[in-house]
Amino acid sequence: MSASTPAHSAERKQNFNPDLNRDVNAELNSTWSTHSAATFAHRVWWSNDVLAPGNAAFTAALEQVHGNCVAFVDSGVAQSWPHLSQKIAGAFAALQPAATSSASQHSSAKVQRNSQPVAGASPVATVAPCLAHVEIIPGGEKCKDGLEWVGRVAKLCFDHGVNRHGAVIAIGGGAVLDAVGFGAAIAHRGVRLIRVPTTTLAQDDSAMGVKCGVNMYNQKNALGCFAVPWAILCDEQFLTTLSIEHWLGGFSEVVKIALLKDGLLFEQIESNAKSITARDMKVAAPILRRSAWLHREHILNGGDPFEVGTARPLDHGHWSAHRLEVLSNFTVAHGHAVSIGIALDACLAVEMRLLEAKVAARIIRLLRSLELPAWHPMLQSRQEIVAGLEQFRQHLGGNFAIPLLSAIGKSHDVTHISHEDFEKATTTLRTLGS
Ligand SMILES: NC(=O)c1ccc[n+]([C@@H]2O[C@H](COP(=O)([O-])OP(=O)(O)OC[C@H]3O[C@@H](n4cnc5c(N)ncnc54)[C@H](O)[C@@H]3O)[C@@H](O)[C@H]2O)c1
Ligand SMILES: [Zn+2]
Repeated sequence: MSASTPAHSAERKQNFNPDLNRDVNAELNSTWSTHSAATFAHRVWWSNDVLAPGNAAFTAALEQVHGNCVAFVDSGVAQSWPHLSQKIAGAFAALQPAATSSASQHSSAKVQRNSQPVAGASPVATVAPCLAHVEIIPGGEKCKDGLEWVGRVAKLCFDHGVNRHGAVIAIGGGAVLDAVGFGAAIAHRGVRLIRVPTTTLAQDDSAMGVKCGVNMYNQKNALGCFAVPWAILCDEQFLTTLSIEHWLGGFSEVVKIALLKDGLLFEQIESNAKSITARDMKVAAPILRRSAWLHREHILNGGDPFEVGTARPLDHGHWSAHRLEVLSNFTVAHGHAVSIGIALDACLAVEMRLLEAKVAARIIRLLRSLELPAWHPMLQSRQEIVAGLEQFRQHLGGNFAIPLLSAIGKSHDVTHISHEDFEKATTTLRTLGS
């Protein structure tokens, strides 16, 4: 490098703000620290028959999506909705400009769009979204077993020409949304993800979040990332084909969020438990939506969407739930495991003198009236379950903060759970919960 001439250094000085009287070398040698705020849009639509041609929510969600898209359908959903692939194709065909839609649903026609772009989206609209492929993916934890499906999702994006302006559509339960979301997040460093949650749990909780991941190293959600979905399309008609186990399982997350944040919601569930178990949609739908709203509010407006800190209230009941899922080789479903985890945490809170015993009994009664489990014999394998605490601590980043209840609607982080309290809590739960 040549030494700078007097003319050069004069020019350089002029480019610097003379008011600040800064020295370029001092600045380059100092710590570079900038807090840059990146905004994102988080959009949820509740719609009936969301894949019907011309559905307004589907159209709006895909408005700024361009080019090829791939849809992944949960095998359980595909089985219950045998014509779904054609329906998805029909939904895409309806997005094609009128002049070309009759010719081919796979055309890449030029279209004009005049809506406001989503934060970060290209305002230059070029190519209409078109469906390149529909893939059936195993439903439940099978698709989260390691990286196989994550790799397949990413590969199919390349095989079918899905780029960052295209989209991956994930239609399924929370497990499929997690695995497909992870694959979409790493293809081209992030392809737009449209979630269509089809279980109570996915609609009332998981689809609202900004996380995805798979199970690995014998641990739940060991690998994954934060990736904000492009759009979330909830259609309650999918819930009609859920098994009763999974229909009810999703209400454990509703009880959880009510316990943490909304005592009135807890009472609403108590007084409507019979209608919920009878699958009365008129009663259940507003309860599920309230839960979704509360989860979303916490994630987006709680100050820590990407979980940089240690506090993790939404994980109430989850440290033992995740452990139970793994130890049972996923024969205990997430919703059931969370129900047991909530019951255990309630008993722990009593042992730790945070919560009145009668409140814990009331919580367990509600879980039971929703036909959810509150006990599992595996809780007696103390060493195995308590190992979950250590895994949870690692997951949080080395510091330990377990949210326990001090009342209905109020939680409190604890930093230690003793073996003695765990032992006493499981003894109480064995009587109350089984
Ligand atoms: N990313 C997050 O923030 C987050 C939050 C909560 C839970 N989760 C994850 O979600 C998963 C649990 O999700 P889940 O409770 O939705 O269960 P699931 O995804 O395991 O699905 C349960 C079963 O229902 C079937 N199914 C799904 N929709 C159906 C429908 N409409 N009709 C018939 N069958 C259908 C599936 O094939 C599967 O067999 C867990 O892996 C959990 O870790 C993730
Ligand atoms: Zn959960």
